[in-house]
Amino acid sequence: MLVLDQPDKGANILSRGMLDEFERHLDSLASDVGLAGLIVASGKPGTFIAGADLREFVASFGTPSETVESLSRRGRTLFARLAQVPFVTVAAIDGICVGGGAELAVWCDRRIVTANDKTQFGFPEVKIGLIPGWGGTARAPRICGLGNAVEMICGGEPLSAAETVRRGLAIGPVAPDRLLAAAIDEVRESVRTGSFLRDRESWSRPIAYSEQELAFLGATAAAEIQGQTRGQYPAPSVALEQLIESAALDVEQACIKESEGISRVFGTPVNRALVNVFFLTDRNKKDRGVERSDVPASPIERVGVLGAGLMGSGIAGANLRSGLSVAMSDANGTALEKGIRAALEDASFDRRVKGVHAAKLLEIAPRLRWTDGPASMGPCDLVVEAVVENIHVKRQVLERIESALPDGAFLASNTSTIPISRLAESLRDPERFCGIHFFNPVRRMKLVEVIRGARTSDTTVATAVAYAKRLGKMPIVVGDGPGFLVNRLLFPYMSESLELLAEGVPIQTIERAATSFGMPMGPIELYDMVGLDTAIYAGLTMFDAFPTRIRPSPILPALVKAGRLGQKNGKGFFAYGDGSSKKAARPRPDAQSQSIVDRYAKAGPPLDATAVQRRLFLPMLLEATRVLAEGLVRDVRDVDLGLIFGIGFPAFRGGLLFWADQVGLPTVLEWLKPLAEHGERLLPTPKLIEMAEQNRPFYPKASE
Ligand code: NAI
Repeated sequence: MLVLDQPDKGANILSRGMLDEFERHLDSLASDVGLAGLIVASGKPGTFIAGADLREFVASFGTPSETVESLSRRGRTLFARLAQVPFVTVAAIDGICVGGGAELAVWCDRRIVTANDKTQFGFPEVKIGLIPGWGGTARAPRICGLGNAVEMICGGEPLSAAETVRRGLAIGPVAPDRLLAAAIDEVRESVRTGSFLRDRESWSRPIAYSEQELAFLGATAAAEIQGQTRGQYPAPSVALEQLIESAALDVEQACIKESEGISRVFGTPVNRALVNVFFLTDRNKKDRGVERSDVPASPIERVGVLGAGLMGSGIAGANLRSGLSVAMSDANGTALEKGIRAALEDASFDRRVKGVHAAKLLEIAPRLRWTDGPASMGPCDLVVEAVVENIHVKRQVLERIESALPDGAFLASNTSTIPISRLAESLRDPERFCGIHFFNPVRRMKLVEVIRGARTSDTTVATAVAYAKRLGKMPIVVGDGPGFLVNRLLFPYMSESLELLAEGVPIQTIERAATSFGMPMGPIELYDMVGLDTAIYAGLTMFDAFPTRIRPSPILPALVKAGRLGQKNGKGFFAYGDGSSKKAARPRPDAQSQSIVDRYAKAGPPLDATAVQRRLFLPMLLEATRVLAEGLVRDVRDVDLGLIFGIGFPAFRGGLLFWADQVGLPTVLEWLKPLAEHGERLLPTPKLIEMAEQNRPFYPKASE
């Protein structure tokens, strides 16, 4: 039995050192003629192998393609020995088994998985812009069939233990305490029947697919990939090509082809950007939100949610889904009833049946309480306020909640724009108060901004961060101020789209420029989604705060005056059906809104997509440099994490600052030169000039 247990690490990661040691063990075992079988297991509870060491990958970025191919060959020839040694090899998998770990496992003769919720099996390489490079694309389809392999490798989603078994990739699932016994049984059985030798033979041959079958699978999968990636993520297509074209080869040749395939994606800009996103999220998982390690986070079990509207019900649903108890309240009885129903539906929603899961609903319902005001919310560890965005109402309810809260409880506001320190002015204990800003829709959006007011304590911040993580979110801690981080950066971008409209740039040109840059939708459609009335209201805070670089556009009030509020009533800049359907209809150009826009549009010179992209994203970048100069974030990486997971900034660009680093700050300054005529909002900031002059990137060097 070979137990992988990397010292000083929470999970096994396949580093070069680990592979070397693995090789030494195989060398010494290979000549052991008395051995019946080798069981490869993990000494880490909850993980078998979490993948290859990405830091070593990053260190190899920029190496010639022959080096990449030889790195791939090294791992693959080592693992291939597991299917050549004179004894049965069994991977005993309890916990996560992905990437390089799944490749090691598919080279074993047999795999057994445990019925542990943590057990997952998969090839997520495409999510970081790569394809499996240690024989995964050659070996997996020969074991579980080409269709299954295409879905797993091109999609990148890991499978549960039961699904891994169903797809024919493993035996089980067995109880975790039966894993070793089951593996030993499997060794005995394989030796007795000799089945592993027959499998070795058949898994080394080409895959029995006709040309038509291959063409059909290739075409349908390619269409699906194109739909999902819009051509902006090349790795799934390279993986598909690899799988389809290697089907007619034997496993050895398929492996050689795989090494060529990986050298096509390794170190490309998209690969580098996606690896950066991986590091951003990984860093976020470890970040407690405070610098000192001795600050405790209080456990939160009972949460009060005041305000049962769109956000309150979403927040309550997220808490219920994560096993917490919730007390809900709203000044309006009808709103409360609706909010409670929405929270229950949300928390018991089952994606497979696209509706409420009855058993889940019964489990959740006793944890939800209906209350008739802040005073009767009872003993809560934390209350999140999500009432209307009005400073007077918020101050009043926060004061009332505070007076009803037990000692030691925490208080938070979900405000999207009002500075936390202003809300804290009327509180007795502002140290226990902070912003916890969820994004809409709460169920889908991973980002949460934890806002530290002037007097918020470290314990409150650490507690809010741990609480958001318990809900499965990615919290970033940001300083106080108008729009906090994400809305502050979003605003110049959106506002610039109205400036472009006023210069006569057509709506479609703006939208296409944004989506071809990689945004999930254009800024104009985003206005419709936010709601044009809400956008005017939120805008006031930003205009007040930054009058020299943002000016109110007359277009929004004119549209609202014409009864066009956005998606919520089916018409804004675009038309969306009658607004009665819950599902958002596709936006259609609309003659009335166009005539309103035309009223304010001057005829300007035509702009191409690149020019429009610069106009949209440079104001956002300049605002980010101001945010950095003000110290609003604790780390530059929080800006990129916030934008990717808060507004859908394209992951394949690695984040706004990562993108700017790739472009190069001197080039950014060049791009800004002809835009100076637009005034302060497009003038280089002192921070940008200083960094460009010193040739310093936003991101710290790998060694820092
Ligand atoms: P909403 O209008 O859907 O819900 C607000 C609820 O508060 C209503 O049900 C209302 O009856 C209730 N309410 C009003 N005064 C109250 C009082 N004195 N006591 C108790 N309940 C009272 O609004 P939404 O969109 O849920 O927004 C709530 C908060 O979340 C606001 O601060 C907003 O800025 C913030 N937010 C909104 C986002 C969005 O996309 N809608 C995103 C992130 C934050």
